[in-house]
Amino acid sequence: APVDTFDYLVFGGTGDLALRKLLPALYLRDKAGQITGDSRVMAVSRSQLSPAEYKAKAEEALRQHLHADEFDEETWGRFGARLDYVAADATTTHGWGELQEHLKGRDEIVRVFYLATSPELFGPISERLRAFGLVTEKSRVVLEKPIGRDLASAKRINDEVGSVFAEEQIYRIDHYLGKETVQNLLALRFANSLFEPVWDAGHVDHVQITVAETVGVEGRGGYYDNSGALRDMVQNHLMQLLCLVGMEPPVSLDQEAVRDEKIKVLRSLKPIGVENIAASTVRGQYRAGAVNGAAVGAYAEEAGAGNGKPSNTETFVALKVEIENWRWSGVPFYLRTGKRMPAKVSEIVIQFRQVPHSIFPRGAGEITPNLLIVRLQPDESIRLNLMAKDPGPGGMRLREASLNLSFAETFKSRFPDAYERLLMDVVRGNPTLFMRRDEVEAAWRWTESILDAWEARGDSVKPYIAGTWGPSQSVALIERDGRTWHDDA
Ligand code: BG6
Repeated sequence: APVDTFDYLVFGGTGDLALRKLLPALYLRDKAGQITGDSRVMAVSRSQLSPAEYKAKAEEALRQHLHADEFDEETWGRFGARLDYVAADATTTHGWGELQEHLKGRDEIVRVFYLATSPELFGPISERLRAFGLVTEKSRVVLEKPIGRDLASAKRINDEVGSVFAEEQIYRIDHYLGKETVQNLLALRFANSLFEPVWDAGHVDHVQITVAETVGVEGRGGYYDNSGALRDMVQNHLMQLLCLVGMEPPVSLDQEAVRDEKIKVLRSLKPIGVENIAASTVRGQYRAGAVNGAAVGAYAEEAGAGNGKPSNTETFVALKVEIENWRWSGVPFYLRTGKRMPAKVSEIVIQFRQVPHSIFPRGAGEITPNLLIVRLQPDESIRLNLMAKDPGPGGMRLREASLNLSFAETFKSRFPDAYERLLMDVVRGNPTLFMRRDEVEAAWRWTESILDAWEARGDSVKPYIAGTWGPSQSVALIERDGRTWHDDA
């Protein structure tokens, strides 16, 4: 359904995220007819560009990042007319008067400030927005991740932004929550009666969450080298997936209800500190290798990353995580994420317990445990691996077979990108799929103790060849427990 007329101000408007994700998402919502009236999209950044120059940049980005059949002149005509550009500097008063001019007379419509900048600027931008009287009753602010680089900086940023905006006006985005299959986890767990009774330590052996990427750091080396995979992916995306798999049933889909349950999971995580860091974590960094048949260089040689100098930033992390509560006691959650892996694949694997006793003769073959595999990308699906009888007259032989629900085959509709959904949720004023302050801070608290323990031990990252599933220590991490990573990509 169409949303109310809005002004979307994108700070960091010339940046990678704005051009690669935000503009395409807004364009596609316009194409779908969801954007009404004289809604506007205003990019803001320090670069001295004219609106026409920015429009040319935006068109180029859309042509590059949209599928050929998504870009059409009619939508571009309409969307392009909504686009505007203002050069303003967060650290000075330059450009802010002009911004005020552009927004004059538009106080009654929904106003979104999307801060796609470095997190140090979230506070200063909020402060200027207030000083120039731009924060209206219908204003909302979106904070891109990462919110800080540790608990203290996250708190400071939350305080600074919170002194200008009320918590209900603050939308902390984690785009994984906008992915179709991530939301489908809620449907799978709470719209079926089959799974919830076995969703606990009595029935689940362990859980694996893998988010593997084939890309390297893609020119974001300056940011990435200061960040690393734990901050870039685990603190936010993987923690959110863990929460959705692990949480108790919320009383409703109400924003507070869902977020209340997620934070309980974060609070139940067994801390990883100096005592258990070696047994519970592996950090890796890729060396030169090949991904999908193409040779790629080492992390340290990538532009802006190590700059040829050795770097101890991790591009891969594997973790053994325990949720210390009634439901999950003793069930490990193995998490891993990395760049330059063999495939782009994100999946959650629930491995159920072995049957208590086998009635089958030895010759029937091994009984492998049931797996429920929720694949988030690239091809969304839910698969249930079962044991079946091998057909034929040769007696009882068991074989693994799977029930496969492919979303592309079952639902013929188009799958919107995560940002499309989330950007419109902000206009609608629905924060369910965004992170509350206490959630972000709880995630940092837990993550930070890992960062501190790594630092205290002074270990160096373990090398892995680009195009492999990470360092051999990652295999050892799970095999020590008599289990193996599920690699079927
Ligand atoms: C971002 C990270 O949040 O997520 C990137 O900063 C990463 O490093 C990206 O590549 C992955 O998102 P997706 O949607 O491609 O899985």
